[in-house]
Amino acid sequence: MKKIAVIVSLGMSVLTLNAFAQDAKAGRDKADAACALCHGPTGIASMPSAPNLAGQPPIYVSEQLKNYRSGKRAHEVMGVIAKPLTDAEIANLAAWYSSIKVTVEAP
Ligand code: HEC
Repeated sequence: MKKIAVIVSLGMSVLTLNAFAQDAKAGRDKADAACALCHGPTGIASMPSAPNLAGQPPIYVSEQLKNYRSGKRAHEVMGVIAKPLTDAEIANLAAWYSSIKVTVEAP
């Protein structure tokens, strides 16, 4: 039982270290150039048919981008956009969008 806890916490610290290795600033520059037109300059979509990305967990953003890239998630536009992205670019984009703080207000 103790062994499992140690392994889990080691795993968590590796994940945390990985998260710090991502470059949100580089992600922001890339997003300004390639994504902001539809997803907005701060990840709040400027196009009604595009989803908001601000505040999404990095794992979600990177998985979706990898799924578009591989074709596992099919979308005419996002498939083309994700195709040339490297793993590092995806990690940086995910770091940027997840770093944006979102507040919500109930109606
Ligand atoms: C021309 C408009 C356009 C551009 C530019 C664009 N997107 Fe998208 N994006 C969309 C649309 C539309 C969808 C919804 C696709 C679907 O239904 O699967 C989407 C979906 C996504 C999703 C999935 C979100 C979710 O909630 O599941 C991610 C992540 C994403 N885009 C990231 C990016 C990134 C990163 C870039 C820049 C490298 C980018 N997009 C550029 C239009 C765009």
